[in-house]
Amino acid sequence: MKITIGSDHGAVELKEEVKKVLAEFAGVEVKDVGTFGTASVDYPDIAEKVCADVVSGESERGIVLCGTGLGISIAANKIKGIRCALCNDVYSAKMSREHNNSNVLAMGGRVLGFGPAGEIVRAWMTTDFAGGRHERRVNKIMALENK
Ligand code: RB5
Repeated sequence: MKITIGSDHGAVELKEEVKKVLAEFAGVEVKDVGTFGTASVDYPDIAEKVCADVVSGESERGIVLCGTGLGISIAANKIKGIRCALCNDVYSAKMSREHNNSNVLAMGGRVLGFGPAGEIVRAWMTTDFAGGRHERRVNKIMALENK
C-alpha cells in the first residue's frame, strides 16, 4: 500500500514520527510531500497535494497533519473523493475506517503526543471497512458531492 503524507509547519515533527510508525508495516511505501522545515506554509496547499495522490489512485490513502488537524481536514474534505477523518483517539480512528471508510487521516501536531498519535496510526492502518449498512451510508456521503 502506498500512502502520501504531508504537514504544514505545525506538525513537521509529528510527520517524522508518523513515518517511523508507517515503517513498521511491511509493504507500505510512503511519499512525503512536505513541508520539510519550520517556515510557515498554508495547510490547504498541503491538503491539495496529498489528496491529489489519493484521488488519482497514485496512493491508496493519505495522512494530513497541521497544528490542530482542523484546517487541513476541512480543506481535505472539500476535495471530491476524499473522506478525511480528524482523529485524536484510537476509537475514532478505528471507526473512521470500519464505518466511514476514511481514505485520509488527519491529526494535530500541537494536540497529540507522539505515543497516542502512533497508536492512532496503527489502528487506522489495521482496520478494514466493514461494508454492509455502512456502505449505503458512505455512498450517501459521496452522493452529497454532486448535489
Ligand atoms: C498554523 O499556524 C495553524 O493555523 C495550522 O497548523 C492549523 O492548526 C490550522 O488549522
